[in-house]
Amino acid sequence: MTSLREVLNRAEADKVAVGHFNFSDLAAFNAIVAAARDQRLPVMVGLSEGEREFTGVRQAAALVKAVRDEYDYPIFLNADHTHSIANAEAAAKAGFDEIIFDGSALPFEENIAQTKKAIEAIKSINPAILVEAEIGWIGASSAVLDKIPDGVGVLTTPDEARQFVEATLVDVLAPAVGNMHGMLASMVHGNVRKRLNIERIAEIKAAVRIFMTLHGGSGTNDDDFRKAIKSGMTIVHVNTELRLAWRRGVEAGLAAAPNEVAPYKILGAAVAAVKEVVSSRLELFSSR
Ligand code: 13P
Repeated sequence: MTSLREVLNRAEADKVAVGHFNFSDLAAFNAIVAAARDQRLPVMVGLSEGEREFTGVRQAAALVKAVRDEYDYPIFLNADHTHSIANAEAAAKAGFDEIIFDGSALPFEENIAQTKKAIEAIKSINPAILVEAEIGWIGASSAVLDKIPDGVGVLTTPDEARQFVEATLVDVLAPAVGNMHGMLASMVHGNVRKRLNIERIAEIKAAVRIFMTLHGGSGTNDDDFRKAIKSGMTIVHVNTELRLAWRRGVEAGLAAAPNEVAPYKILGAAVAAVKEVVSSRLELFSSR
């Protein structure tokens, strides 16, 4: 079984990105796996602290292990946006492949200090786990938002990124480059798209020379995605688009069979809707 580091090394060399999709139920999980298997692409699945609280940390790890074992499939599990060392340790012990320690809301020096502690705690449990850290504020919720959250829009500078990586020796960096978590209603309707600062991505990549993740992928302009990946983004996170598809699928499933009570019959429409989103994103992220 190839490791996540090997998969990321190959993606970086090929100038493609590995898609990272969040889930908190079996409908979304199965949809992500089905979409990746159709295209024979490696995939990352992730859970925020809230999503992990719902599924269970070990339960999520067991689902991923089951797919790996059954199909010998390159699927990797990430503990998305982890804010405490205790939660990072729980994910490390459960067998996660990557853990994101998110100190982006802290002052810069405090983010460095906490990230170093998290790396030490995680690597002492399993040195093979990749640790990702975040700098810059891009908001915090994969939701439909009324307005852009306060403080979003300030870009990470190459100097800040270099200083952070040199001080922490983190494996993966998630900078602020015009991206944002969540979608405005205008993005849901498709007439407004998020735009990324491609030049800044290239400058930060040249400064840090480690893997970089683009968070807040939902609602991003397709061409900006392609350029961001060519300029150094090796992982791309998408969540809100999947949540919207899941909700629309559940609503359609309920409306189509008002007397149905079998969850697996109602949720088929949600699986199909999420799979469609994941398939189109994987195709874009893997195009050369
Ligand atoms: P979106 O919900 O904007 O796609 O962001 C997801 C994300 O970055 C999760 O880490």
